[in-house]
Amino acid sequence: MGKVYTVAEADAAIVAESLEKTYYKGSFPRRTPAVKALRGLSFKVRRGEVYGLLGPNGAGKTTTVKIISTLMVPDSGEAYVSGYNVVSEFAEVRKRIGVMLSVERGFFWKLTGRENLRYFGLLYGLSGRELEERIDSSLETVGLRELGGGSKFFEDMSLGMRARLGLARVLLRDPEIMILDEPTLGLDPHSARHIRRLLRLEARNGKTVLVTTHNMFEAEILCDRVGIIRSGRVIAEGTPGELKGLVSRSTPITVLLKTFDEPSLQELVARLSRDDVRVDYERVEPGKWRLSLLVPRGLEDEVLAEVYVKARALSLKVLETRVREVTLEDVFIALTGGDTGKVG
Ligand SMILES: Nc1ncnc2c1ncn2[C@@H]1O[C@H](COP(=O)(O)OP(=O)(O)OP(=O)(O)O)[C@@H](O)[C@H]1O
Ligand SMILES: [Mg+2]
Repeated sequence: MGKVYTVAEADAAIVAESLEKTYYKGSFPRRTPAVKALRGLSFKVRRGEVYGLLGPNGAGKTTTVKIISTLMVPDSGEAYVSGYNVVSEFAEVRKRIGVMLSVERGFFWKLTGRENLRYFGLLYGLSGRELEERIDSSLETVGLRELGGGSKFFEDMSLGMRARLGLARVLLRDPEIMILDEPTLGLDPHSARHIRRLLRLEARNGKTVLVTTHNMFEAEILCDRVGIIRSGRVIAEGTPGELKGLVSRSTPITVLLKTFDEPSLQELVARLSRDDVRVDYERVEPGKWRLSLLVPRGLEDEVLAEVYVKARALSLKVLETRVREVTLEDVFIALTGGDTGKVG
């Protein structure tokens, strides 16, 4: 059945509507459903914006990106890139996108950066002078020229250089829409910042960027709008500011505690938790813990007093308390009940 567009949708760079995807174990006909990765996932990316899909491990980010990039077919639901259906019009979609799935995927280890780009450029239908110029400008844009990445073998590159080369490959074709799955994963802060700056610049030059991350700090500073994914669904969407507005009736409080007694800490968390006060905890370093509380406006002092009394009763030492600005992480915790999806 055909789809009726609203004007806003037809104008959107990417539309995903009620995507569902189940992964199976075993092979047909004896396969059994293993994981329901997407359960009616929808979002919309406007032209020229950096849109972030933010979610914990296993939320369905990569699955979504693969469907949008025409590398995987959804079980149901539809997706459009520049108005083209990613399943029935995949060739049109492919002309318009540049995709980076994993930093290291698909490069030849025994070729240099430039040779790799030349190979992919030829595959994309570029050649001769145009190809060499595109390679030069891509290497320049990602900062690989000054690092000598053009003449370095891929196998000798650091992860940061490989990530840059991955981006250079995306830029080769000068795509309208860039789709990147966790482009800063594993990079040092310097390389990660470089890549974020580059993506912002591309968006300013009119490109649309769809990027996934599980890093809330990154989503907040990089993205114009963010969709928070959890268990295969977008549970909230908006600008970082709008999302933070969802918890505007709350104040985040951070408490640093000293103890080697984790059960006592958990007991404290249990005693502080109430219907209107969410508490999450995380180890900062051995013997040092950070409690993150989300407290209704106006109750800050009351809850802080409670923290001191209850911590003392459990022989836990409060090192520091701080009333903070709301961050995306607070929104995430508020929406997902304390599970930030962090590993470790
Ligand atoms: N090929 C596969 N076969 C079976 N299950 C899969 C497969 N790929 C992904 N899954 C499962 O589907 C769910 C969603 O996976 P997906 O890779 O899309 O999540 P993600 O948000 O990208 O996670 P991560 O942050 O770890 O990259 C997870 O539970 C994952 O284990
Ligand atoms: Mg992933």
